[in-house]
Amino acid sequence: MLPYIPDPNVNKTFLEQTLKYDDNGELCTDTEVLDYVMMEWERPMMLDISRYLCEGKEDVKILNVGFGMGIIDTYIQEYNPSEHWIIEGHPDVCKRMADDGWDKKTGVKCFFDRWQDVYEDLPEDHFDAIYFDTYEDHEQHLFSDRALKLIKKGGKVSFFNDLFVDSVSDSAVTDDIKKYYGDWVPENFKMSIENTYIEKVPEHSNYSHDLAKNYYLHIILERLY
Ligand SMILES: C[S@@+](CC[C@H](N)C(=O)[O-])C[C@H]1O[C@@H](n2cnc3c(N)ncnc32)[C@H](O)[C@@H]1O
Repeated sequence: MLPYIPDPNVNKTFLEQTLKYDDNGELCTDTEVLDYVMMEWERPMMLDISRYLCEGKEDVKILNVGFGMGIIDTYIQEYNPSEHWIIEGHPDVCKRMADDGWDKKTGVKCFFDRWQDVYEDLPEDHFDAIYFDTYEDHEQHLFSDRALKLIKKGGKVSFFNDLFVDSVSDSAVTDDIKKYYGDWVPENFKMSIENTYIEKVPEHSNYSHDLAKNYYLHIILERLY
């Protein structure tokens, strides 16, 4: 079980707040001081994750939780998934998805809901890939446990995890991560750690880590049997 701060109200408050896409198409709060939910500098991470999850697979059935700017969903579409399920809970983001016709695309199934309201009904042993990236969400552990049941043999799961490091050649970091998640990852899953080099995280991003750290780590869980 992943450690967590059990405060579901934080996510509810976030989902009730008005959001907007700024002039650069970045997703933020509609407040005097803009609070960014998703930004362009994160694009390379989304590109890499889509590759780690989809590359080499045919007729991919994928589930993505959290549409944001639709960056990862746009990359996922390049793999011509046979099923591309998207769960998005914020009304302003859902409106953007509908305006852009995401719910009309072939193979795309949109749930305009919080994942908490639909996750128990999702089909088990069904998806080749699952990605999870929400916001102000301290209930992620519930979805993480469920995701391991939804994924097929050979399928891969990844989550946005906010893990930035100085150097990927430092095996102490990856060893620590493996130790940290070790108890939670079931025997029939293999954990691997990939990375994306990010040249610069903007200071006005919401990230609490040292902005000089350049490597974002992806944790990928693959179901072996
Ligand atoms: C950081 S963005 C996702 C960015 C996305 N990966 C991309 O590539 O653009 C987080 C998204 O999760 C959505 N979200 C937050 N809480 C949610 C919940 N409980 N259920 C569904 N969506 C949620 C937010 O509205 C937002 O659109």
